[in-house]
Amino acid sequence: MTRIRTVAWGAVAAAAMVLAGVAASAASGPAAERQAIMKQTGLQMRDVSAFATGQKPWDAAKVKALTGAIAANGKKLQGLYPPGSGADPKSEADPKIWTNKADFTKRLAEMSTLATAAGKASNAEAFKPAFLKMSGTCKSCHDIYRKKKT
Ligand code: HEC
Repeated sequence: MTRIRTVAWGAVAAAAMVLAGVAASAASGPAAERQAIMKQTGLQMRDVSAFATGQKPWDAAKVKALTGAIAANGKKLQGLYPPGSGADPKSEADPKIWTNKADFTKRLAEMSTLATAAGKASNAEAFKPAFLKMSGTCKSCHDIYRKKKT
């Protein structure tokens, strides 16, 4: 009985921490703007992934629109890491961004290039590997430049 209680409280505490994490992500200024664009990009990636997995029937126009939006977001993001904007306590941007700015910007440009390339696929078979390449740029950048939530 005691054990079950402890487990239940543990779950409540964990949920509270998740909620605290959500509230903490409401930054302001360029940090808020880039977070909003990243969030939107995440949703666009989720939507377009359905065409890579075959969950949704191939729709070239939709895939082109989504990958085009992702490519445009990559371009917008390039201007949203001005010097000093890493100091926002709500930002998950790692200070390494500003010491390796050229590499960071190159990765955002690559995300856009690969998204545009993926949008040229003419069927799901061709889109799948292009989608994987594009999503690889998200993960490889986050691994280096996005602070892990503790
Ligand atoms: C060049 C590096 C880079 C690339 C490429 C990149 N991200 Fe990010 N991403 C970041 C950084 C840095 C943050 C943290 C931003 C902050 O808090 O200021 C972030 C944050 C996020 C967030 C959290 C936003 C929030 O709610 O605070 C999501 C979701 C996200 N990225 C999705 C993606 C997806 C999907 C892709 C690929 C299509 C992608 N990112 C590509 C660097 C990158």
